[in-house]
Parts: sequence; structure tokens; C-alpha cells
Amino acid sequence: MCGIFAYLNYQVPRTRKEIFETLVKGLQRLEYRGYDSAGIAVDGPKKTGNEHNQNTICLIKKTGKVKALDEELCKKDLLDLDEKLFTHFGIAHTRWATHGEPSEVNSHPHRSDKENEFVVIHNGIITNYKELKAYLINKGYEFESETDTEVIPKLIKYVYDNRENEDIGFSTLVERVIQQLEGAFALVFKSRNFPREAVCTRRGSPLLIGVRSEYELSTEDIPIQYNNALFKEGVQEKNSHNRADCSSDIDSVGDGRAVEYYFASDASAIIEHTNKVLYLEDDDMAVVSEGKLSIHRLRRKVNENPVRAIQTLQMELQQIMKGNFDAFMQKEIFEQPESVFNTMRGRICFDTNTVILGGLKDHLKEIKRCRRLIVIGCGTSFHAAVATRQILEELTELSVMVELASDFLDRNTPVFRDDVCFFISQSGETADTLMALRYCKGQGALTVGVTNTVGSSICRETDCGVHINAGPEIGVASTKAYTSQFVALVMFGLMMSEDRLSLQQRRLDIINSLKMLPDLIKQVLALDKKIKAIADELYQQKSLLVMGRGYHYATCLEGALKIKEITYMHSEGILAGELKHGPLALIDKEMPVIMIIMKDSCYTKCQNALEQVTARSGRPIILCCKDDTDICKNAYHTLELPQTVDCLQGILTVIPLQLLSFHLAVLRGYDVDFPRNLAKSVTVE
Ligand code: M6R
Repeated sequence: MCGIFAYLNYQVPRTRKEIFETLVKGLQRLEYRGYDSAGIAVDGPKKTGNEHNQNTICLIKKTGKVKALDEELCKKDLLDLDEKLFTHFGIAHTRWATHGEPSEVNSHPHRSDKENEFVVIHNGIITNYKELKAYLINKGYEFESETDTEVIPKLIKYVYDNRENEDIGFSTLVERVIQQLEGAFALVFKSRNFPREAVCTRRGSPLLIGVRSEYELSTEDIPIQYNNALFKEGVQEKNSHNRADCSSDIDSVGDGRAVEYYFASDASAIIEHTNKVLYLEDDDMAVVSEGKLSIHRLRRKVNENPVRAIQTLQMELQQIMKGNFDAFMQKEIFEQPESVFNTMRGRICFDTNTVILGGLKDHLKEIKRCRRLIVIGCGTSFHAAVATRQILEELTELSVMVELASDFLDRNTPVFRDDVCFFISQSGETADTLMALRYCKGQGALTVGVTNTVGSSICRETDCGVHINAGPEIGVASTKAYTSQFVALVMFGLMMSEDRLSLQQRRLDIINSLKMLPDLIKQVLALDKKIKAIADELYQQKSLLVMGRGYHYATCLEGALKIKEITYMHSEGILAGELKHGPLALIDKEMPVIMIIMKDSCYTKCQNALEQVTARSGRPIILCCKDDTDICKNAYHTLELPQTVDCLQGILTVIPLQLLSFHLAVLRGYDVDFPRNLAKSVTVE
């Protein structure tokens, strides 16, 4: 939720126009995280006073998408767009409203006062903002927005105003402020009192820093500075307010030569500038002063890595571009032959029929000994757990619970030391899933992450895990992450069952089918035109039911979620076994209903459900196996799909529903990648 982007050029001449372009482009890359309103803060023209020239900060905000902000920036005639700024720090934000409606005053950056002495951008939620706000109002500070965020710039100004004679540095101010905050945050601060200095920090919300320099970096491992002291033998404690001026060449990156820094909520906003990135950990504070980047923490945790490494991103720019597609979602649907292949690449050996998930192999013994598996996620990631539950039970011979993270937490579900808990998350940042992870860790269970985002919180906080390697997923509606999560979980089952004699034939069938999967997905994608024609008939409907059972119940839930999420039609995934217990009452000749009837162990039961539907004049659109004439003759429309092994068939049945929801949304005139009220990464509970 919310996208943070900031750019600092040190001794690199950039016109104001170039700086605007960089900030706007960064926001556009992050727009999927929130798109209610956007804003930036940059240096304004110096104010000439009697005594000395004073720095100013200019805030520009706009409701709506980043494009509206971009248009606004072009109109700003008070700023000379051609002016070259050798060193400058600009911050930018795209918002997903949580406190207060989308409006200019509620959008970020938020400010300390009318003079914009301190400005801040925030992703997350400050849970104790009401208390802080009351305190600050009592001290005479005036608030202008309804947001939780606004307490932060007001609080930093309060600390600054009350510094008495203390010579206090920017990072120390921020340090004091974050000690008062509860909740989740990634924050970037800018101040006219500390021009050209950047301070940022995180707790619970993601933040990373990209570094670009023509020169070799002075270090790629930055030692953390703990509470004013370097964690390095022989290094003297440094005065907190001078920390940013440390001149040692190994405690910071950058040595005073030209360098650029990019601060962002995720790597997609950075990759076009640099592939050198540093992921901040919770409670890290990064400071850039005089072009040098250093990392600080209040105190050292037991077993904590005392350095933060600059890593090289493997992501390609092309992966985050739309290419010839109209929407990211459409591109991501069509990428699935490659994305599922990438999930398997280097992990399945089709010659020896072995599966090795590197991130789990050292924990396999422990997992095999466990009492039960608990698979936890939200939304689509939860559906991936539902989709694979049956095959995991079969291959692991363990009891498998699937849980929605929020409900799991609400119930204080009993978790034991001999449980193994899986956390499924595309972003790796979903607050509910992350909370569930911390809860299970606290109960002593082994925690396993299944994520798509390298360096994400879930990735870092789990004991071990699997990257699904689907590539960046930008569309808010999750598509390729689902099929890759599905494949990753099946691979886990295969790895667990390698030494089970009775399961060898079953394993072989699954492994052979996985090999064929990318080709079969291509065959399903080839049905796109036919699916579009069905969408042409359905798009004015109000409601759409999706019915199936067994391996396809998850497809029903996921298909219905896709439809409601981007088309705003009412849609329900119905377990066909429940039909006569209520949903049958909805069926008549007007109600559009999609049924999934594949040739598996539920085939006959599904045929019964079909009869019940047609007997009530229902006109089902049926997803069935190729040439299933029995089914076709009872259908209003059919989509005939290639057949694969039962436990993987769900990957082939979900794709037509992804495509259908896409076409319905386009026909209804909606912005597919930016569904109303939603955001890609849900970092609030
Ligand atoms: O990043 P995560 O996989 O943890 O996200 C979980 C859900 O928020 C997400 O799957 C959501 O349901 C999607 N927008 C559905 O398309």
C-alpha cells in the first residue's frame, strides 16, 4: 500500500526537469501499490532575506493517478525547469488511502508546518497516531489532514523546536521520532534545515536503496553503526549528531565523489537506474550526507548480521515493461508458460525424476518429522494453498491445514513446536501473513516462506523458503504468481515423497506432466479469442457464478476473486457439493454460471450438479476436457481444455477465468491494472 520513491543526486548535475522526470517515473513504476493521489517535495527557489538566503521546499500534490501529478508539474512556472542542481534530494509518494479520503491535503508528502521545514513520505500505518496527535495539538501544533502520517513531520519539528542548545543532527531527530511511533512504516524524510541530506527508515514496510556511481563503490558491505558507535573493534564512539559526517571509507558507501541514490518501496522503481541495491531491515536507519550512505540502528539484536550488503539485482528492465500488451495483467497472464517454467528451472531434473528445492533441503528431515503442515496466506495466495492441499496431503502423508491469515490470527489458532507453517505471499509483505508468521515463530514452529519477492519481509523472517521465481508481478490482480505458487507447492510435495515406494508412479506422472505444463498452458492461452467472445455476451451482467469441486474448488474461488476484483461484478466461487444446500436457489435462465467439469474423480458428481443446473433452465458455460461430447451437449458454451494429471489441472482451468475477467473488465471500461479501492501490496492489517 502506498509507493515511496526518492532520488538524491550528489555532484551529478541534473536539471529540475530531469529530477521531476525521475521522480514521476519512479512513482509510475510503483503506482500499482496505490493510486488515489500522488505528490512530491523538491527544493524550491532560495528565499532571499535580510540576513541570509534561506532554503525552501516546494510541495506539489494532486489527487488521482501519477499522470495528473505529472501534468501539474509541467504547469509549475514558479520553478525554473532548466535550472541545474548539482546536488539535490527529492521525495515522491503515491497513495492508497487509509486515513482520510483521497484529496490533496491528505496526500503525501506531509509537512511539519506552513514553511515546510520537515517533509515526510510514509508507507504503512501509525497505530498510536491519535495519542501523538492529541499531545501535539496540546503543544500548539496545527494539523491540516486526516491522516495518521501527519503526526510524523509535526513530531520531528517538535523535537527540533525543543532541542534547546543541543546541536542535533537530522538522523538523531529521526531516531527520536521513530522511538515514539507504533505500527508499521517505511519513511523518508527531507528537511530544509538539512538540505541535501536524506534520512530514511523502516519497520514492517519495505524500503530499499539503489546506488549508482561511475566510480567503484568504497565498500559493498556497510557496517551498521549502533547507537552512535560503530560495530567495529577499535572504532571510537562517535558523536550522534556528527555521525553522518563520518569520514572513514568503510563505514559508508560513497566517498564524496559523484553518486546517485534511489529510495523505493520495491525494486521495480530502481532497476532502470541501477542494479546495485541495499535492502533495509526493520529499524535500520539509512542516512545520506555529503554523498555518503551509512546505516544506523539503535541497538544490536542477538545474532544480528552487523553489515548490510549491497546486492546485485537479477531483475531485467524488460520484465517490468508492458511491451505489446494493453495491461500488465494481460502480459502476466500470457507470461505463464515461461513463469511456471522458471519456477521449475534448476529444481526438477526430468532425467532422474528428482526435485530439489535448495532453500528447503536442509530442513527436510525436520519437516518430515512434523505433526502437521499449516499453509497460510491471503487472497490469491490462500487459493494456491487450497488448490494444492489435496496433493500435499497425498504426497506428504501429513495433515494439511489451509488458513486465511487474518482469520488464523483472529482465532489465536493453537500452533505447536512440531508444526511446520508455510507462508504464501507474492509480495512477501502482506501484513496479515507477516503477523501470522511472527505469531507462529513465537510458538516455536518451523516457518517456511513461499514468496515471489527476493528480500521481502516474509522471505527474511522465515526459517527457510522457496522463491517462486515468477518474475515481477505488477498487475494488482495476481495471475502468474498463483500458477507459480501452485507449482512450487506441488514440487515441495514431490520432494517430500521421493523415498516413498508406494508413491513412485504417482510422482512420475506428476513430474512428466510438469514437463508438459508450459506447452499445455500455451494451448489454453490460444483460446483467448473464444473467451473474449464469451465476455462480449456476459459483460453487462451483474453477477457470475463459478462452480466446481475437488481439485477445482480453488479455481472457482480464484476465478470469482479475479472477476469481482477487476470487473466489479458480483461473483461467487461455489463448491458444487454445496449446490443443493443453498446456491441452487440462484439458478435460472438469466443467471450466468460457469461450471468446471474435468475428467477426474469428481467427474460423475459434477455431471449430477450439471443436471441440477440444466433442470432449472440454467445455461452453463462449461470448462471441460477436449472432445467431452457428453458434457458439450448440455452446455450453453464450452471451453475445451487440454488434459493433464488431476492435481495440476487447476493450473489449466484457472487461466480461462483470468482471461475472462480481463476481457470483462476491459469491456466494462475499467482500468484493469488499477482496480478501484485496491492496491497490490496490502501492508496494513
Ligand atoms: O502479496 P500477497 O500474495 O501476500 O497478496 C495477498 C493478496 O492481497 C493478493 O493475492 C490479492 O488477493 C490479489 N490482489 C488477488 O488478485
